[in-house]
Amino acid sequence: MARRRRLLLWVLAPAALLVAVLLTRSTPPRLPADANHALDQTEAQCLTCHLHTGKRVRPDDHPLRDDCFSCHRDPRGVLHPRPGAPTSLPGGWADDPRLGGGRGTAGVRVSPAPP
Ligand code: HEC
Ligand code: HEC
Repeated sequence: MARRRRLLLWVLAPAALLVAVLLTRSTPPRLPADANHALDQTEAQCLTCHLHTGKRVRPDDHPLRDDCFSCHRDPRGVLHPRPGAPTSLPGGWADDPRLGGGRGTAGVRVSPAPP
């Protein structure tokens, strides 16, 4: 009986771990279904609104990459990755890693890089 229970533990422990990982993993939200989020835009156009100074800033804990279409799926859940899309754009995360301008969820302030 004790052996049976121990065996059960070996099976349940990894399963519980897997569930925990899946629940805490942050998945990229899908693109909203509106004209602002048409798929034929460049990533630079996305950044006009999603820059750290834009009207809808990305949170501070956002991945440090600007190739939006590699991660964000369309409203139907289909991914449209653009081969060769730059991961770092002018004005993007590399120019100011405070994606949320310090106003994001993490609230981490990074001092500006020396000139
Ligand atoms: C004209 C401004 C504008 C442009 C351009 C724009 N967005 Fe947005 N985006 C918004 C606003 C405002 C919201 C939040 C309101 C909403 O969900 O519609 C948003 C929301 C989002 C979300 C979050 C959706 C969610 O459920 O939380 C993602 C992801 C996103 N945009 C990605 C992009 C990408 C990628 C592009 C380029 C293809 C882009 N945006 C272009 C204004 C813009
Ligand atoms: C490496 C994958 C990846 C790339 C590339 C990427 N994102 Fe995201 N994005 C994510 C993830 C993951 C989240 C959820 C982050 C979180 O919950 O903290 C997210 C969240 C967002 C949100 C939602 C913020 C909110 O208000 O909830 C917006 C808007 C957004 N991304 C826009 C963009 C835009 C615009 C680009 C391109 C310039 C881009 N992302 C590139 C993975 C990515």
